[in-house]
Amino acid sequence: MRAAAVTLFALIAATGGLEAQSAGQKVFQGKGLCHACHGKDARGTPLAPNLTDNEWINVDGSLPAIVALIRTGVPKPVRHPAPMPPMGGAKLSKGEIDAVAAYVKSLSSDRSTIR
Ligand code: HEC
Repeated sequence: MRAAAVTLFALIAATGGLEAQSAGQKVFQGKGLCHACHGKDARGTPLAPNLTDNEWINVDGSLPAIVALIRTGVPKPVRHPAPMPPMGGAKLSKGEIDAVAAYVKSLSSDRSTIR
């Protein structure tokens, strides 16, 4: 009985996670404007770094660090010519920030399991 409840909970959590990921992709490629600098596939442009590799320039790759960076932007980029504005210059709700952060994190986590 207890095990069934735990399984059900895990299932709901997993489904919720998937939804958050696709919602995050929508923000990334849509109103979040992230794609304008990071590229539609998030592999980077001369304006902003690749987010699908395992190399992080400004953060440690953890979800809280990614959330914080999206909120503040990057006023002084390390390797790129122009700053990232807070939330990419868009107005995002907390839910949208969390979703796009989870999406960004999933891009590199997927990679590291393949490699
Ligand atoms: C105006 C261009 C621009 C937009 C729009 C933009 N970024 Fe960025 N982003 C940057 C720059 C520049 C950096 C810092 C690169 C550096 O330090 O050299 C950065 C860094 C990051 C990093 C850290 C990468 C690392 O390797 O440390 C993440 C994560 C990120 N952006 C996510 C996002 C998300 C999510 C959005 C949309 C909400 C977004 N960005 C919108 C330009 C942009």
